[in-house]
Amino acid sequence: ATSPAERAKFYAARHALKEVKSGMRVGLGTGSTAAWFVKLLGERVAKEGLEVRCAATSTRTADMARELGIPLFSLDELGWLDVTFDGADEVDPKLNLIKGGGGALLQEKIVATASDRMVVLTDSSKEVDTLGAFPLPVEIVRFGWETTQSLVTEALDGADVMGHGVSLRKDRDQPYVTDEGHYILDLHLRRIGKPRALSNTLLNIAGVVETGLFLDIADSVVIGSPSGEVRVRD
Ligand code: A5P
Repeated sequence: ATSPAERAKFYAARHALKEVKSGMRVGLGTGSTAAWFVKLLGERVAKEGLEVRCAATSTRTADMARELGIPLFSLDELGWLDVTFDGADEVDPKLNLIKGGGGALLQEKIVATASDRMVVLTDSSKEVDTLGAFPLPVEIVRFGWETTQSLVTEALDGADVMGHGVSLRKDRDQPYVTDEGHYILDLHLRRIGKPRALSNTLLNIAGVVETGLFLDIADSVVIGSPSGEVRVRD
């Protein structure tokens, strides 16, 4: 890892990896920080013969794990996981998160909530006092998506947020499509005063599948720094 940001992610992943023991069922997150974890886990599988059974949170992560020779199963084959390691876009003082910058929030939330523990791998740039500077991803079904977008925009009027912009995520000039075949709205809220209330409001809209608000899900946050110092919050 060359850039300071990448070094911080590497150290967070390396620290968290110590928690993994043979026999564990492990969820593998998505994103550049989780990718470090997958890479280092692959090395332990190859070198030490570490015996783990893993479930991935995206096709991207599954492809990477398979290439590294990490034993991969569907979530349903494993049924329940001991621990999931994933990145985040923001972490607040209560360990509530915004996730989904990489578009994998739905599978990430399903996997994290089917795990005894969720360990978040980050660097200090992700730590915030209040969630919301990072645009909140909301996964919506394609059917009637413009109507859903209007309903989401309307719902923000009554919410404790500072910004009200709602944009459809694009991949070049086409809508971005998730692994589950849905679209993503990015909500530019700047400040989310009441994450639980906002989450409930959004989930009440029929076309909304999930939101990137991970509330009371993370158990531990590992914060790496470029110098190799690691802080753990839990
Ligand atoms: C993927 O959908 C996201 O939830 C990622 O976990 C998040 O975007 C963090 O990614 P980085 O580790 O690349 O910052």
